[in-house]
Amino acid sequence: MNIKSILTIGVVVAIGALVLFARASNDGSGTTTIAAPDTATYDQAKPDVVTVYKTEACGCCLDWVDHLETNDLEVEVVNVASTAPTREHFGVPPQLLSCHTGSINGYWVEGHVPADLVQKLITEKPADIRGISAPGMPMGSPGMEGPNPVQYDIIAYHADGTTSVYATRQGKEAVE
Ligand code: CU
Ligand code: CU
Repeated sequence: MNIKSILTIGVVVAIGALVLFARASNDGSGTTTIAAPDTATYDQAKPDVVTVYKTEACGCCLDWVDHLETNDLEVEVVNVASTAPTREHFGVPPQLLSCHTGSINGYWVEGHVPADLVQKLITEKPADIRGISAPGMPMGSPGMEGPNPVQYDIIAYHADGTTSVYATRQGKEAVE
């Protein structure tokens, strides 16, 4: 084999790999993989649909997506290389950080927030709330099911930068 045919084979293999990668990145189920969303991507959000930005390898993120869909929320998943640019775009403060960021009707939803609270948010449409978060990854929260559910707060982040307790849960159950 001469150098030219080796090079030709190399190019063909490289193109084949690219095609396979492109197919893997869009499996036709409404999931797309992108390095980092630009503002135009965020603007494509559909009303009453939760757009979930997560990394491809995140399993608990998908379990949360299942939880939302089971509870009658429509979801669109966008896989991103890092969720940091998304968090920055929506203005999620570092202390409310979790594994994924959702967006619906102008609100952000960070982490494993129970579906009924997402419904409450978009039904009540509070003008002074920017988003709600279940900071960290509380055991027993939706998508984080396990034998030892802990009590955790869902925090509301307000337009003036203050926070308040939006709800308190143990697992999926309300705590009075
Ligand atoms: Cu998670
Ligand atoms: Cu997640």
